[in-house]
Amino acid sequence: VRKPLIILAAIALVATLSYCSSSKKASSSKRIVAYDTDIAPIMETQCAPCHIPAKKGNKKPYDNLANVKADIDEILMRVQLDSTDKKFMPKKKPKLDDATIATLKAWKEGGMLATKP
Ligand code: HEC
Repeated sequence: VRKPLIILAAIALVATLSYCSSSKKASSSKRIVAYDTDIAPIMETQCAPCHIPAKKGNKKPYDNLANVKADIDEILMRVQLDSTDKKFMPKKKPKLDDATIATLKAWKEGGMLATKP
């Protein structure tokens, strides 16, 4: 008589555990964003060639953590401007998508990590 109960309890436990871990993942708004894995690829694709010296860019270099970190407020401000604004970045390119802008914001809010912990 006990066995089915134990099996039921075990199933309930597994179901609860997997539900908890998946809902935690889905609702976590604190995504970890790091310069090397998330930000550098954005700058190197979206801000090239102008800001990438290796691609013959002669504007302020954004191929390194120090400069991107120092200018993050200006960068965030410019990528959120209307694309017709004189200060809009990336110049001559389409506006960054919402997910990319959100990644830049999350990086700033997370303390501008160089790498993932
Ligand atoms: C087609 C070339 C081009 C691209 C692509 C481009 N920029 Fe620029 N950027 C410029 C020019 C030219 C200036 C200088 C004029 C100005 O300040 O608007 C500039 C200036 C800036 C400045 C001000 C720098 C300073 O000296 O204070 C920031 C911040 C900036 N860009 C961010 C970005 C970001 C972020 C991207 C990519 C998402 C980007 N730009 C893509 C051409 C470009």
